Amino acid sequence: MLESRLAQLEASALKRIRAALTAEELEAARVEALGRKGALAQASKEMGKLAPEERAAAGKRLNAAKQALETAFEARQAEFAEQALQARLDAEWLDLTLPAPGVRPGSLHPLTQIQSEIEDLFVSMGFVVLDGPEVETEFNNFDALNIPSDHPARDMQDTFWLKDGHLLRTHTSPVQVRGMRRLGPPLRMIAPGRVFRNEEVDASHEHTFYQLEGMMVDREVSIAHMLYFMKTLLAGIFKRDVTVRLRPGYFPFVEPGFELDIQCLICGGGGCPVCKQGGWVELLPCGLVQPNVLRLSGIDPEEWNGFAFGLGLTRLVMMRYAIDDIRLLQSGDLRFLKQF
Ligand code: PHE
Repeated sequence: MLESRLAQLEASALKRIRAALTAEELEAARVEALGRKGALAQASKEMGKLAPEERAAAGKRLNAAKQALETAFEARQAEFAEQALQARLDAEWLDLTLPAPGVRPGSLHPLTQIQSEIEDLFVSMGFVVLDGPEVETEFNNFDALNIPSDHPARDMQDTFWLKDGHLLRTHTSPVQVRGMRRLGPPLRMIAPGRVFRNEEVDASHEHTFYQLEGMMVDREVSIAHMLYFMKTLLAGIFKRDVTVRLRPGYFPFVEPGFELDIQCLICGGGGCPVCKQGGWVELLPCGLVQPNVLRLSGIDPEEWNGFAFGLGLTRLVMMRYAIDDIRLLQSGDLRFLKQF
């Protein structure tokens, strides 16, 4: 009796296991036949009621059914695993023979480009390129440059002061000081770098911008020398001869000090919106190094003198590429940067 029921039970459970289409269906079939309260467990309970001589045969039949069902279950489970793997392999298949998407090269920032051009130019004329820290001492940024304590650049409005008394350099001129002290005369150096002023940011003002400082200290350096180097610099940048003029300008660390103007490259001097109809564009401040500045850095002004200039790299880039908003330069905007 029990044995024939076991045979039926096995047959129908096998059918369900083999027909299961999902892992859930398979599990349900397993629980129903092989689970703790499943059909086989039920049959096993009934064995107790059998006569001892029937019990051995029924027990064998039960074990055989259990074995057969477990084997079928595992086989079906393996099929599912195989299918799942195959589905993944199909979905994640890569065609390695397809052409690669191609390398998109980056480009140098226009400031970096102009900086390296100017560096190359000055190196070819015997100048060294010096670097200096962006966090400076008040002494190097101001005092050593003969900038009195009532100079407007020291004002709270202009300088980013740090809590410990240091400051973010407001110009690259402190690198002059470092250069003079470290290298001594004769000296030809330039110092490109980032400078900071506490400016309200708008289309033409940034709190962070770039300058390139230059200095030459030697014997009997004259304004003619300075002009020669400045004209060579400008011809190098603009790839043509430019007409320059000097106007007096005041910077405590140069005497005499000048503003060097170039004749407007857009209109050739006739007057246009770029030069505000004046025909000239103010480009770089320069002058002969103030004797005090030399003395403060341990150089005897009776024996040595020199010139210094400060080029606004940011302004220069804007002029060169007709960029009308200074904020673009530090925007990190790829649409802007890709153009260079
Ligand atoms: N350091 C000056 C500034 O930032 C520029 C300058 C440099 C002027 C060298 C003269 C000589 O305004």
